[in-house]
This record gives sequence, structure tokens and C-alpha cells, in this order.
Amino acid sequence: MANSRIDDILYRRQLRDPSQGGFSSLTVGPPGSGKTSHILYEASRIIEWYPHETLFWRDSPNSAAQFNRIGKNWKIFAEGDTELKFRDLMKGGSLKIPYTNFNDFNDLIDQDTGKGLVKPKQLNVIFFKDDFRWIDLLNHLRATIGWQSVFLDEVEDVIPLNPYKRPGEKSNIRHQKNILFSNNAKAIRKGLVNLLCDTQNTSELDWRFIGKLNFICYLRGARVFSQSRIKQVAVDKLTTGKAFIDWENRIYGKAFFSSFPPKKPVFEVIKE
Ligand SMILES: Nc1ncnc2c1ncn2[C@@H]1O[C@H](COP(=O)(O)OP(=O)(O)O)[C@@H](O)[C@H]1O
Ligand SMILES: [Mg+2]
Repeated sequence: MANSRIDDILYRRQLRDPSQGGFSSLTVGPPGSGKTSHILYEASRIIEWYPHETLFWRDSPNSAAQFNRIGKNWKIFAEGDTELKFRDLMKGGSLKIPYTNFNDFNDLIDQDTGKGLVKPKQLNVIFFKDDFRWIDLLNHLRATIGWQSVFLDEVEDVIPLNPYKRPGEKSNIRHQKNILFSNNAKAIRKGLVNLLCDTQNTSELDWRFIGKLNFICYLRGARVFSQSRIKQVAVDKLTTGKAFIDWENRIYGKAFFSSFPPKKPVFEVIKE
């Protein structure tokens, strides 16, 4: 393929050069195409290759916990007094899984030391009462020393195109947060933060955010953006475990990722 530059693309994604900063990437595809597997795969590589990098994981609530698919190296944190319950989806009943509450982002990871409750070489799974807090955490990480990678599964819940104003709110702070976040995207990368997200529905995601991404990873069945040089027919022909990665509509190539089947116990996390 004339435009296949997958080595350059993977090199950039693996680069940890402070002068270049981090990268941001969105994996797209219909349900079951392997989006969560793709970002879990990227997380597993980072855990293997970068023992000093801190990884944060956002799981979508009220479905089988996805982070558990990576194995045993995860730990759960919940903001404030958020209570979590764990329900066994195979056997029924509740599970006792330890988690840690935190009040301050600096307790989670201190901006000056890069250390705190979260540790490298594991997925630090964070539950907020309100998913918009991820934007605040990303801004905190921008000014935190060291490299961090943030994984947002089903990111349309975090940066939706049409955030709605909740009862009691004076203005649509969520809409303002989206704009702030999109404007800050470059600063976040310069702050040595990588962002790896996925969505099944790009039309529910804020377009300002999509416009700031470095990479779009198309999985089988994904709709290719009109600006891309990748042909829709090529994406339609993809098989499971393969992705076309588009680097800023300039170069693209085909990458592979492995499967992360569910691990027992299969459970859901319920936020109280
Ligand atoms: N690289 C792969 N090789 C084989 N099977 C895969 C691969 N990636 C995903 N799968 C399988 O496809 C199914 C859907 O994967 P998942 O990552 O949950 O997709 P999505 O997040 O897009 O819904 C799972 O059963 C998973 O094991
Ligand atoms: Mg998924």
C-alpha cells in the first residue's frame, strides 16, 4: 500500500520525548468490533514497556467491568463519598472488591512529585459521581510531572456533543467544559499526557474534541471521516484484531491488536 506508514505511526505512539509531548487517539467501530480490546491492548503494552508511566482507566458503569479483562493488575478508586457495589454477573450476588476513596486529585497523584495513591504498572480505575470530572482530572495531569496515559472507554459519555444542563445548575457548565477541554488539548499533550479513547458513535461526541486528536483508529465496520485518505471499502474489509490508524489525515497504516476476553469473575460496578 503506497501510503502505509505503520512503522512511523507506531513509533510516534511509542515515543516518550518531552519535546514532542504525548498523543491523543480515538478508536472507532460498531459494538463488538474490538474497541475496548484495542485500548486494553495499548494499555498492556504501556504497562510492559513503560514501568514509570501512570495509567488511568474510565469504565462505563452498569455493564460488565471492562478493566478486569486485562488481568489482575488494576486497582479501583472512587471520588469523595462515592460508594461502589460489585455484582457477580455469572453467579449472581455481590462481590467484595476493595477500593479506595479519595478527596483531592493531589492525593491521587501529586502534581509536584507524580506520586500518590495511584501506581504505575496497573490500571488505576477511577469512578466519579459525574463523568465530566475526567476533564478536571486531565487538567490536573497536564500540570503533573511524569508521563501519564488516560484511557476513556465510551468517551461520548465524557465529552458528549450535547451535554445537558442538570437541575440546579446556573449555566451549562458541561458545554463550557467541553470547549475548555478542546482548547486545552494541545496543552494536555505538552503536559506529557497521552489520551486513548474509544466510541461507537462519533456523532454523539463533541466535534471540537475530535478535531484536536492526533490519531483515529478505524475498526471493522467504522464510518471513515470524509477528510481521511483511507478508503471506506478498505475499512469494511478489515477483520477482527486489525485497525487502520490515521495520523492527522496525512499518513495511515494497518495495525494489529490482540484479544482480551472476559476474565472471571465477570462483574459489574454499581455507583451508589
Ligand atoms: N484481536 C482480537 N482477536 C480476536 N477476538 C477479538 C479481538 N478483539 C476483540 N475480539 C473479540 O470481539 C468481541 C468484542 O470485543 P470488544 O473489545 O468488547 O468490542 P467493543 O468494545 O467494540 O464492543 C469480544 O468477544 C472480543 O474477545
Ligand atoms: Mg467496548
